[in-house]
Amino acid sequence: MMEKDIYILAIESSCDETAAAVVKNGREVLSNVIYSQIALHTEYGGVVPEIASRKHIEKINQVIERALSDAGKALSDITAIAVTYGPGLVGALLVGVSAAKAISFAAGIPLVGVHHIEGHISANYIEHKDLEPPFLSLVVSGGHSHLVMVKDYGEYEIIGRARDDAAGEAFDKVARAIGLGYPGGPKIDRVSKEGDPDAVHFPRAKIENAIYDFSFSGMKSAVLNYLNSCRMKGEEIRTADVAASFQKAVIDVLVGHSMEAISAYHCQKFAIAGGVASNSGLRAAFEEACREKQVAFYCPSPIYCTDNAAMIGAAAYYEYQKGVRHGFDLNAVPNLRLGERV
Ligand code: KG4
Ligand code: ZN
Repeated sequence: MMEKDIYILAIESSCDETAAAVVKNGREVLSNVIYSQIALHTEYGGVVPEIASRKHIEKINQVIERALSDAGKALSDITAIAVTYGPGLVGALLVGVSAAKAISFAAGIPLVGVHHIEGHISANYIEHKDLEPPFLSLVVSGGHSHLVMVKDYGEYEIIGRARDDAAGEAFDKVARAIGLGYPGGPKIDRVSKEGDPDAVHFPRAKIENAIYDFSFSGMKSAVLNYLNSCRMKGEEIRTADVAASFQKAVIDVLVGHSMEAISAYHCQKFAIAGGVASNSGLRAAFEEACREKQVAFYCPSPIYCTDNAAMIGAAAYYEYQKGVRHGFDLNAVPNLRLGERV
């Protein structure tokens, strides 16, 4: 007997992107609509939670309708509604969760809540049809830096985490300090191409007894100290050199930790995910390191690295197959832990 196709309408609103997508059988994206609020938050130098929530409310219905029409599907074709319910900004998450519950109730379609980081990791399934667990994943976003062992679909073990600033947060803070503005990651990425990555040496922190954990706040402080000392001495600050040197330091740490974990856990497959995974220098460095180590390297296209709903649809497919269903009491959980099901 032919298996019935599963169509998931996925919704994501955990931060500053209002997004909806229709995903077929977990890996085929039929539509992927993203309304980015970045321009709105730029003048404040970062995401303002109240503005984000208000804009999500304004946009969410249009974005969902567009996702359905781009996919050529009606609600009656949809097998399940998926929504990010954590972690993220509580007011932002609530908009997506409420919209998903309303549709689920009105149309009588099952509801599946998804962990945002599980979504980021699952973005890798979209373009790599052959990728299956187990594999090691590095998730680097604005709020998280995690080294995660993906043991099976929906089964995770975090083996390393950020002790202070997440990688994306460090990019954003350093960009602000060197006058590039928000959002910092893509700007540092671009400017770094014109700079010398060996111009300034910034420290690569290691944490004793937790060799896979990350600490980026020391690196950020080192950049601030360097800038202050240049100003005091009246020395010229070469923005591109500082950006490139900082980016190189972050990449060294991320690649170094990941390669050590790959060796220790005898991994054959490695996948990166999250907004910072769209960094061109990072992708090139991982490609080379994995080639040398003869480990298969996976990374999503940049559009699936930064926040989107297609990744939530991919993750939801496997949750749905496991029988996960949520009730109308599903709530936003701002600090939801990976692998935890509420
Ligand atoms: O995954 P994401 O879109 O949202 C969160 O879940 O946080 O990640 C956003 C983060 C921001 O800190 C942004 O500066 C960073 O990803 N980012 C980048 C690049 N593009 C986005 N960092 C470095 N290089 C990039 N090209
Ligand atoms: Zn994200």
